[in-house]
Amino acid sequence: MAGVKPWGLVLIVFCMMSLSSLVKGADNNNEGLAASFIFGDSLVDAGNNNYLQTLSKANVPPNGIDFKASGGRPTGRFTNGRTIGDIVGEELGVPNYAVPYLAPNSTGNAILYGVNYASGGGGIMNATGSIFVNRLGLDIQIDYFNITRKQFDQLLGPSNAQDHISKRSIFSITIGSNDFLNNYLLPLVSTGTRISENPDAYIDDMINRLRNQLTRLYQLDARKFVVANVGPIGCIPYQKAINQLKENQCVDLANKLAMQYNRQLKNLLTELNGKLQGAMFVHANVYDIVMELITNYARYGFTTAGTGCCGAGAGNGGQLAGIIPCGPTSSLCEDREKHVFWDSYHPSEAANLIIARQLVYGSTQYVSPVNLKQLQNL
Ligand SMILES: *[C@@H]1O[C@H](CO)[C@@H](O)[C@H](O)[C@H]1NC(C)=O
Ligand SMILES: *[C@@H]1O[C@H](CO)[C@@H](O)[C@H](O)[C@H]1NC(C)=O
Ligand SMILES: *[C@@H]1O[C@H](CO)[C@@H](O)[C@H](O)[C@H]1NC(C)=O
Repeated sequence: MAGVKPWGLVLIVFCMMSLSSLVKGADNNNEGLAASFIFGDSLVDAGNNNYLQTLSKANVPPNGIDFKASGGRPTGRFTNGRTIGDIVGEELGVPNYAVPYLAPNSTGNAILYGVNYASGGGGIMNATGSIFVNRLGLDIQIDYFNITRKQFDQLLGPSNAQDHISKRSIFSITIGSNDFLNNYLLPLVSTGTRISENPDAYIDDMINRLRNQLTRLYQLDARKFVVANVGPIGCIPYQKAINQLKENQCVDLANKLAMQYNRQLKNLLTELNGKLQGAMFVHANVYDIVMELITNYARYGFTTAGTGCCGAGAGNGGQLAGIIPCGPTSSLCEDREKHVFWDSYHPSEAANLIIARQLVYGSTQYVSPVNLKQLQNL
């Protein structure tokens, strides 16, 4: 019987080896990110404010009514379902939602998939959100990440920890709205600031703080960043209600401030991309995505962008009613997926899905210089 010639065997083995390494290589590409670190305000808070003495809370029904992971119970998310941060993590293959930093059980291996530091009412500036009594500003959120960073060294060892943080993690920063809505534009809080600072100086201050904050994250080994600009805050139902506007009108001053900040944010990210070696700062143009949703809501299957689903009543107590946006005594709409806004401030899960998918897969109009799928594979 003619045996298989030795070189034939070698060839077969070689082919099998290269096939398996090919498959492995493909696996690596599709593996997704290991962890998602989330910084920001109530747009992405996943429960930190549950552990603070604060007026900015969402751990009451009907918040979370569509959040599958909790069976519809409130978690502290300021929306009916997933936040943009949750959805982006899912789309990039992160195995679990980032755990809230302040939750007592966010320890040990639970933090390996990422940690969420976001806090309703928080801002770039320390004074932002003081009307809520307590909230975590971005400076403190980064102090907390500094603590997490040391825990990673202990969990994985310094070399693996650095790899995990730098190459296999995404850092998202969604902040700035409160620096206008609950600081600069709020006479109660900002009397001092507004007298001494024109908008240009205030926005310069914000950008300088943020430069420092992003640089600190870089010093702690963050490399893959996505930074959201401020949305059209003049078009949220809360602003329409307190300014007694019609459904399709927006507050000009608030939107102008947002746009001015956004222009400078874009320049800051370009600057940091040139300056901080090995880092990629992705600019998330949430303003334009949300403006498109508000303007052409019917095209996306929504029936309204003017009123929130929960506690939608305009003029029921004015400014103070807006501080606690949605709770058990609020009125609740039936067609939750047909509202762009969940409450007076925050997008619904249906809107969050559209926003998040634009960031992950969208073109440079909405996310640049690369989208998050491309950022994942860098
Ligand atoms: C922490 O506890 C909360 C509330 O009991 C629970 O929903 C969550 O799944 C726990 N998280 C972890 C990482 O164990
Ligand atoms: C804001 O607060 C943080 C933490 O308490 C502090 O480290 C930082 O210096 C403060 N920033 C300013 C500008 O006061
Ligand atoms: C992190 O904390 C250490 C103290 O434990 C401090 O020396 C260092 O400056 C902090 N790093 C940043 C970027 O805040």
